[in-house]
Amino acid sequence: MIDVVVIGGGAAGLMCAIVAGQRGRSVMVIERAERIGNKILISGGGRCNFTNLYAGPENYLSSNPDFCKSALARYTPDDFVALVERHGIPYHEKKLGQLFCDHSSRDIVEMLRRECTDAKVEIKTGVAVKAVRRENSDGNFTVETSRGAFMTKRLVIATGGLSLPKLGATDFAYSIARQFGLNLIPVRAGLVPFTFGGEALDFCRALSGISAACSAQVGEEKNRSTKFTEQFLFTHRGLSGPAMLQVSSYWQAPAPLRLNLFPEGKARDWLEENRSSGMRLDTLLSKRFPERFATAWSTPLAPLRPVRDYRSEELDNIAQRLENWTLHPAGTEGYATAEVTVGGIDTRDLHSKTMEARAVPGLHFIGEAVDVTGWLGGYNFQWAWASGHACGQVV
Ligand code: FDA
Repeated sequence: MIDVVVIGGGAAGLMCAIVAGQRGRSVMVIERAERIGNKILISGGGRCNFTNLYAGPENYLSSNPDFCKSALARYTPDDFVALVERHGIPYHEKKLGQLFCDHSSRDIVEMLRRECTDAKVEIKTGVAVKAVRRENSDGNFTVETSRGAFMTKRLVIATGGLSLPKLGATDFAYSIARQFGLNLIPVRAGLVPFTFGGEALDFCRALSGISAACSAQVGEEKNRSTKFTEQFLFTHRGLSGPAMLQVSSYWQAPAPLRLNLFPEGKARDWLEENRSSGMRLDTLLSKRFPERFATAWSTPLAPLRPVRDYRSEELDNIAQRLENWTLHPAGTEGYATAEVTVGGIDTRDLHSKTMEARAVPGLHFIGEAVDVTGWLGGYNFQWAWASGHACGQVV
């Protein structure tokens, strides 16, 4: 009998295993892939944005927003940074509190592996789980795998969400949740580029590779999402870049996407100030934006006229468009490129302190499988560490 079986050797599962192992529990991690931490390895462009200094509950989407508070408060970015520093891993802040490895994501995986070894955690890779059963007699779990069956008192599901399929992401957590009667919040791809069709796609394709700053939101006037002020990038399929990835997690068809190209406001004042310059609209806009974008954006507004020739109402209209450029995405690139899965195990069915299923003692869900989704910028790993830590303290 093993005290704790953790299914999934990613960020959350490994953290949980380490903490439980340090408490003297016998722990086995079962990982389907041939190696642990595959997603950590490719994260942050190979340098793993392992946390965000400012991570707090307001940086997460969930249909039950208070749920993440307890775990995030009890294992903070500083706690993870202390672990990274104990292992002598060099890191830096890139921007907005985002911490990256100086060298490679491999440093983080090696750190977790060493911690597992020190905590006597047994890791089994390349093992497929065939079935999970809860025994009526004693409430223990039987985990049937391609390498035999294991009995455990506590079962932790840490198998992540649906992105990325090419890395072997599975719906395992959701099917276990269904098997044990937990509710699921519908899932969708998050932190993912937008796709467009028709003329909007032609527009994006023509500008592919060009980026600019904006503040972006999704939704109708009365129901707009959180606003993100960052870069957006034209691609051959639509729009990407940090601002787009951030709002994509809030987007659901057919909501409009709204870009304010003057995040600091006052587009109308700026046009007025430059009215006497004699410049055409496209030339004037190219003072603030990449030239090809300025031309393409202003073409439908008769760019050949000098700005001073626009009537006051026309300038009002241009300023309004600059501050509220509305686009209608056809969709997103989906799980193939999404960094996260929005939705998942309904947190109302879990205890927030322990991640244990309310109706199934001994069964825990952690990490991305749970309906807690972080913003872009190290927040998702922080949730994986924090939820794994909370669970590891009690299993
Ligand atoms: P994770 O998906 O990491 O681990 C689940 C593990 O379970 C995997 O190892 C999988 O193989 C295994 N598994 C699945 N099904 C199984 C089964 N049936 N049996 C056994 N094992 C099974 N976040 C961030 O904060 N900073 C960043 O820089 C990035 N960068 C980034 C880049 C890219 C390309 C992606 C796709 C994602 C990111 N993320 C990120 C998001 C982050 O990687 C993600 O939120 C965490 O890895 C989630 O950790 P989990 O442990 O919950 O799942």
